[in-house]
Amino acid sequence: RSHPAPEPDPQVNPVIPDRRNRPRRLRTTAAVRRMVSETRLRPADLVLPLFIKEGLTAPHPIASMPGVVQHTRASLRTAVEQAADAGLAGVMLFGVPLVRDATGTGATDPHGILNLAIADAVAAADGRLVVMADLCLDEFTDHGHCGVLRPGPDGEVVVDNDATLDRYAEMAVVQARAGAHLVAPSGMMDHQIARVRDALDEAGFTDVLVLAYAAKYASAFYGPFRDAVESTLEGDRRTYQMDPGNRREAAREVAADVAEGADLVMVKPALPYLDVLADVAATSPVPVAAYQVSGEYAMIEAAAANGWIDRRRAIEESVLSIRRAGAELILTYWATELAGWLTEPTGSTR
Ligand code: PBG
Repeated sequence: RSHPAPEPDPQVNPVIPDRRNRPRRLRTTAAVRRMVSETRLRPADLVLPLFIKEGLTAPHPIASMPGVVQHTRASLRTAVEQAADAGLAGVMLFGVPLVRDATGTGATDPHGILNLAIADAVAAADGRLVVMADLCLDEFTDHGHCGVLRPGPDGEVVVDNDATLDRYAEMAVVQARAGAHLVAPSGMMDHQIARVRDALDEAGFTDVLVLAYAAKYASAFYGPFRDAVESTLEGDRRTYQMDPGNRREAAREVAADVAEGADLVMVKPALPYLDVLADVAATSPVPVAAYQVSGEYAMIEAAAANGWIDRRRAIEESVLSIRRAGAELILTYWATELAGWLTEPTGSTR
């Protein structure tokens, strides 16, 4: 006859659903952890945003982004060479002009600072990375909006979608003529991807890529960027950038941009929008990028400067998390420094 199982003694024999199942075994040594890590980052997953300011004689620090500068044309070339040496996927260029006007004339001037910088960067990169250009008017307009304005029915100011598309089309062709390998429309105007794609194709630039800022939210985390490009915005961008609470709407924006010919789509900002990023990564038929924006950078730098967090670990974890959520490409101001850490030889296995 069968005996009843002896009562487990909780001191010696704690009740465990499955004693053979010990997840900690996969964490015992650095070598084991490395073997089973699910998310891996390579320098080629990273893109470095760079600011170039007209008329500068020396690189100028950006107070709210410690470690980031506005470049001169010479220091930009050096930064691009360093990015290429580090194995980055690309650089994303932003121009800071000396003169701004209502329609952002500087953006379409072939001798405007951004277009000169594109040519400089292409020469410095020497085919080793992708030179990307931000395609937006906010750095070039005196009112700071991403498009051209018209008075609304009640005398309010409206960002004119279709008039802005004319400017973007022209800007895309000028950037392509300067040598940009990729243009990145970031103004969140409807139909901007279709319009830019058509303009590029008609001018013979069928091989220039378009990276769509597809799900770009009206975010407080762009604050330090406005310092970086010295832009003072009248009002806000809520009539064109997305409402931070909206998740479903990202799918609609991505679908539209893909249908309009986007080669890659982007979610921005990154860390506060990892749910959106995971949604987009799960369904997008084209590669997905995410932009770890200026405010995300500033938060970690500020906390680290105060000794409140471990700077390197926080940077590595934040970028890894964006990768884990599904971004194939990550724009981050730490790209070159982080790439250096990623290629350090493996240390002790314990
Ligand atoms: C628009 C643009 C912005 C950023 C990238 N492209 C500013 C905005 O939309 O207000 C922000 C990037 C950052 O905060 O790091 N040209």
